[in-house]
Amino acid sequence: MTPYGKLAIFGAGGHAREVAFIAERCGVPPEAMAFVVEASYLRETELNGIEVHAIESGHCDGWPFVAAVGDPILKERAARLCMSHGMLAATLCDPSVELHRTVALSEGCILFPGAILTVNLILGAHVHLNVASSLSHDCRIGDYSILSPGTRLAGRVHVGSHVFIGIGASVVNGNADEPMTIGDNAFVAAGACVTGPVADGARVMGVPARAR
Ligand SMILES: CC(C)(COP(=O)(O)OP(=O)(O)OC[C@H]1O[C@@H](n2cnc3c(N)ncnc32)[C@H](O)[C@@H]1OP(=O)(O)O)[C@@H](O)C(=O)NCCC(=O)NCCS
Repeated sequence: MTPYGKLAIFGAGGHAREVAFIAERCGVPPEAMAFVVEASYLRETELNGIEVHAIESGHCDGWPFVAAVGDPILKERAARLCMSHGMLAATLCDPSVELHRTVALSEGCILFPGAILTVNLILGAHVHLNVASSLSHDCRIGDYSILSPGTRLAGRVHVGSHVFIGIGASVVNGNADEPMTIGDNAFVAAGACVTGPVADGARVMGVPARAR
């Protein structure tokens, strides 16, 4: 997964600065990184000692990249924009992550410090696991989904694509016949406890989680 010669980080917000921190921990020096944003969002030329460039400048064309934006839909848009500039999705896995050999990671995944992934897991493209999130056996996470800090998935939970799970949320287990499902584009609020299936596009919150 690492090391990279260079790394472009799409975004220049708090999340992007955190991703740069993980990249440093993975052995990428700040001078080998750049933040890239669309020209209309370019505010500064340097952040935390790392250059910031407009993607339109072509400075990072062909570089490996990660999409460091905190919204699943915008994350896909960012990834597609980077790929249109000949950039290739990289995967970042913090050295502290615990991960079994039966975990399948797709391109563009970002795994933050303290994440724990046990066995027989499948993560789609550009999935983001934030600090101290944990995934138990047989979970699946769809493309561009984001798990916030402290998210806990019990065994056999199937999360769709473009799902956002808020900080500290938990999802109880499914079983071999019937995995616990969280549909595409769903939003699970901070602190929720999901005890039943969540429909595509639903927003759920509370303990137990209910659509609101
Ligand atoms: C759900 C969320 C988006 C707030 O939505 P909102 O519609 O703006 O919420 P509001 O503050 O207007 O509150 C609306 C109602 O929902 C309730 N509510 C809001 N957030 C809630 C939550 N996380 N859990 C339970 N109830 C919540 C409020 O108490 C309020 O209830 P009321 O109508 O009975 O008074 C927000 O709480 C959340 O979970 N964001 C995720 C943040 C996160 O995890 N970030 C991680 C960054 S790494």
